[in-house]
Amino acid sequence: MARAIVPGSFDPVTNGHLDIIERAAALFDEVTVAVASSSPKSALFGVEERVEMLREASSHLPNISVGSFEGLLVEYARAHGAIAIVRGLRAVSDFEYELQMALMNRRLAPDIETVFMMTGAEYSYLSSSVVKEIARLGGSVEGLVPKSVGQRLRQKVGLQQR
Ligand code: PNS
Repeated sequence: MARAIVPGSFDPVTNGHLDIIERAAALFDEVTVAVASSSPKSALFGVEERVEMLREASSHLPNISVGSFEGLLVEYARAHGAIAIVRGLRAVSDFEYELQMALMNRRLAPDIETVFMMTGAEYSYLSSSVVKEIARLGGSVEGLVPKSVGQRLRQKVGLQQR
């Protein structure tokens, strides 16, 4: 049984993330989506909300589970018996950061491989940050995030602006 971890901040999950998660689920027997709770980026959504949104959005995939972690990703991956970490690449600009992370993770855990997947071209300009900015400025996020995430974003942004 081959398990992969798809880690990220997922603040919130976008359709670009889901594309990678679905493709990882087709390649590996089991996939654990792991929400980093101690991300350096300040998050709009709490960890539990981010986990819930991911569970809702991936409920059609039987081999996906969602959890959260603090501390080192490779420790979480090891504890879950994962052989691989899956990351999506959008553009060349992602490469440097991803290479640094993959090499550091390999140094920390040579037994865990990082696997990169090219994101779908239709999602290459999509990021959680851009989605949050659009929502804050009152634009439509339809087609960029799952429907339930769009609703939660509107609620959250409405609350923040009150
Ligand atoms: O969605 P993101 O913000 O690009 O995801 C980055 C993430 C969460 C995968 C990365 O910051 C991470 O792995 N954090 C956990 C702490 C860790 O293991 N750091 C060492 C990686 S070199």
